[in-house]
Amino acid sequence: MKALVRSLLLALLLLALLLATSPPPAQSFEFPAQNIADLIEQTCRLTPFYDLCLSSLRSDPQSGAADVRGLARIMAGSVLAGASRTLDSIQELLSRAPDPESEQPLAYCAELYIPVVKYSLPQAIDALDKGQLGFAEYGLSDAGKEAEECEKNFSGHGGSPVTEGNELVRDLVGVALAIIKILQKTF
Ligand SMILES: *[C@@H]1O[C@H](CO)[C@@H](O)[C@H](O)[C@H]1NC(C)=O
Repeated sequence: MKALVRSLLLALLLLALLLATSPPPAQSFEFPAQNIADLIEQTCRLTPFYDLCLSSLRSDPQSGAADVRGLARIMAGSVLAGASRTLDSIQELLSRAPDPESEQPLAYCAELYIPVVKYSLPQAIDALDKGQLGFAEYGLSDAGKEAEECEKNFSGHGGSPVTEGNELVRDLVGVALAIIKILQKTF
């Protein structure tokens, strides 16, 4: 009888050990993942361009584990990526020897975008990393303003060949600024 009790106890102990060391059931992984998806969606709902916000944030694998501050940082990175691509296409159009009519505004746009890509946005990202939200806002707003300035400069020159890039930068800036607004309200 004693031997039976002992082997029962041993079996229980082994079972307890097994339960303690086995990974938790898959279901408990879904819950935090869903919360993270909710954070991205909730954040994007507070911005002027929900779909653009969602696709920009989700294209970065780090967004899954990010808090709102991390999401702001990722959006600022998207603005920089968008501005760099727009500057690339401006320079690519310029290199194809355009007619003098469109060369002037293109050259002007390059002048506007170079400091945005080199200074304003990298500084805004740096400011976000340091929690200097006002300074980050300033750099991002500047990027939006230069994009609009570039777009406007084509009026009377047969239309802008870089509308898509300018509008993307402007909209991404709108999203990034809205996320910074959330941070300013929470902290
Ligand atoms: C484009 O920019 C140049 C340089 O600042 C300016 O002289 C010109 O008036 C602008 N043109 C338009 C249509 O905004």
